[in-house]
Amino acid sequence: MKKLITPLLIALPLLMSAQQTVDERVEEILGRMTIEDKIGQLNQMDGRRDIEKVKQEVREGTLGSIMNIVDPAVTDELQRIAVEESPSGIPILFARDVVHGFNTVLPIPLGMAASWDDALIETTARNTAIEATEKGIRWAFAPMMDIARDARWGRIAESFGEDTYMAGRLAVAVVKGYQGESLTDPMSMAACAKHFVGYGDAEGGRDYNTTSIPPRTLRDVYLPPFKACVDAGCASIMTSFNDNDGLPSTGNRWLLTELLRDQWRFKGLVVSDWGSVAGLIPHGVARDKRDAAQQCIVAGCDMDMSSRSYLLHMKDLIEKGEVDVAVLDAAVRRVLKLKVELGLFDNPYARKVEKSEIYSDSVLDAACRLAEESVVMLKNESVLPLGENVRRILVAGPMADAPYDQMGTWALDGDKKHTVTPIMALRELCGDKVEIEYIPALTHPRDKSTAEFKALAKAARKADVVLAFVGEEQMMSGEAHSLSSLDLQGAQRQMLEELAAVGTPLVTVFMAGRPMTIAPQVEISDAILYAWHPGTMGGKALANIIFGHVNPSGKLPVTFPRNVGQIPIYYNHKHTSHRAKGTEGNLDNIPREAPQSVMGHTSSYLDVAPSPLFHFGYGLSYTTFEVSDLVIENKEVTADGNIKVSVMLKNTGSREGTEVVQLYTGRKTASVTQPLKELKDFKRVTLAAGESCKVEFEVPVSRLAFHNRDMVPAVEPGNYTLTVGTDSQSGLRTYFQIMN
Ligand code: GLC
Repeated sequence: MKKLITPLLIALPLLMSAQQTVDERVEEILGRMTIEDKIGQLNQMDGRRDIEKVKQEVREGTLGSIMNIVDPAVTDELQRIAVEESPSGIPILFARDVVHGFNTVLPIPLGMAASWDDALIETTARNTAIEATEKGIRWAFAPMMDIARDARWGRIAESFGEDTYMAGRLAVAVVKGYQGESLTDPMSMAACAKHFVGYGDAEGGRDYNTTSIPPRTLRDVYLPPFKACVDAGCASIMTSFNDNDGLPSTGNRWLLTELLRDQWRFKGLVVSDWGSVAGLIPHGVARDKRDAAQQCIVAGCDMDMSSRSYLLHMKDLIEKGEVDVAVLDAAVRRVLKLKVELGLFDNPYARKVEKSEIYSDSVLDAACRLAEESVVMLKNESVLPLGENVRRILVAGPMADAPYDQMGTWALDGDKKHTVTPIMALRELCGDKVEIEYIPALTHPRDKSTAEFKALAKAARKADVVLAFVGEEQMMSGEAHSLSSLDLQGAQRQMLEELAAVGTPLVTVFMAGRPMTIAPQVEISDAILYAWHPGTMGGKALANIIFGHVNPSGKLPVTFPRNVGQIPIYYNHKHTSHRAKGTEGNLDNIPREAPQSVMGHTSSYLDVAPSPLFHFGYGLSYTTFEVSDLVIENKEVTADGNIKVSVMLKNTGSREGTEVVQLYTGRKTASVTQPLKELKDFKRVTLAAGESCKVEFEVPVSRLAFHNRDMVPAVEPGNYTLTVGTDSQSGLRTYFQIMN
């Protein structure tokens, strides 16, 4: 026993002093601040304004954080003013939307998700932090982890798709990449889990619209990714614009204090979204900015992004006793804590670099690998990869050389001059070995001109294969960019029809910020590659795949509807009492003047099949894989146990490939209705041709918890199904029981 005590006696003071350092420093700083100093720390403004005005605000101590300045010379000058000339001397926290890469632009997050590769996502997130911190940024407004089940919503582009488990796992990867081993590392930046919460459920897929998420769905579908990030040490959270069930998130005390702080024990910083404090006024729950400020600070929103409501009214609210100074101090402590943890009080200035990592080979290579892994092959009638027999290629379409649009939404610091487009990469790859004719035919995706189509068809007749690059501009997705139609815009559809009519093998490549309704194009194309907006290296990634240097391994993180009328459509929907048979949806099968119930009574449409065009988890490869020998180690488990299963995976094709083995569980009966199935784990496995391996999973039973009839998170005893396969609709099935 004595042996144990001595080390403790030595370690404890060190531990205490180490822990107290942050707290002590915060208390020491807070103790010397005036009320004006404190309120200034809660004010965040855009830096893209008259710089002299920004400097004056810094000098007056009214800016705790500044967004969108990415010139370290400017951030250093503002920092010098803050540290040397402002009343409190407290450094500024410089923030930016660093969502999918910085100067080197990565695939949009929806594309990242299609890689199912959290390890590579973490690596590229770290590279992103290195690029961004070189420019003075220490706080990134990402990862975004809104669950998105409606492709009309433009911000699905920024999401990790429709699945709760995947969104949490990939968001944590970004948090780890951005924050690294320590926030004090000058190459680290604070992550920000957003948008808290439920923003992706916007009614009609129309951005900023009301959401109506009931308590159980909120807890089982929308909240878990944020909890995963809180548990992973995410430094901050951003509130969402939406009102859910009548309450705007930014002023929702249950959400920001009772749940986030009291139950989840979140110790980090909560920042509003852009103007969302004052947003309570148009929402109709606050009379004016003063009222909004009072509601939001009391709810637990620490920092006011760009509405100035706190700056203008907090002092009066405190002096009139309508906000307790303890509430103000609690918010200021969290701002100071983050700045201390980032080391800003020790070194407030942008880190100096000998050799820039921006656009370095290793950064670009990782971005290219992620772009390669994000591409999903949806169809391939033996036309890809292109082989020796291809001597002449026609490259067509408005996205074959769209360096700006290829980067996707929220690529604020991407430079299109660095984008490698498909035509650039194909020319590089082909050299003089394969002849390439390039006819865009359309100048951009909304171009309605058909003037070039005759020349295009003529060129297609001479080609061995046609590569058509279509899709949507980056402006068609992202914030405030929702669409009521997901069809290809402009004359793209007609262009593809003209090309298909020629009969030369047609490979159609989509670049888009969302699932588009592509059924007609799938019909007429011999192969389909879906590349999302693949970022700086997207063209090289696509050329590598098209010529077989890389075997595609992407899998859909979101369901593709047959038409926009099917939306919302997602794999983990409930059983309902009238499940579709799968045969519904053909108008020709409906007899004339028949009795009302002749078509049966199922949850389906009369005019389209109930199934999606492509389902969650789907994606093809140049090889084939076989899953066999599903073995579950323990058919009976307890709530505190683990489910251990294994399968054999064999590469039954002729070349190396990577498969994403997916594990889903489901149950028919419970105290509340359940989804048909839910993703609970996945693994990427690379095998050589003919090679086999055992793929093992160990899933904590606690991952199957849901909020029961009493609204208590619980693992319910009962019979469960477990499916392991390579997409959400197929695989080997077994059963297990959770015992009391
Ligand atoms: C925007 C977005 C949010 C972003 C913030 C700062 O309105 O909703 O995602 O981080 O403002 O640009």
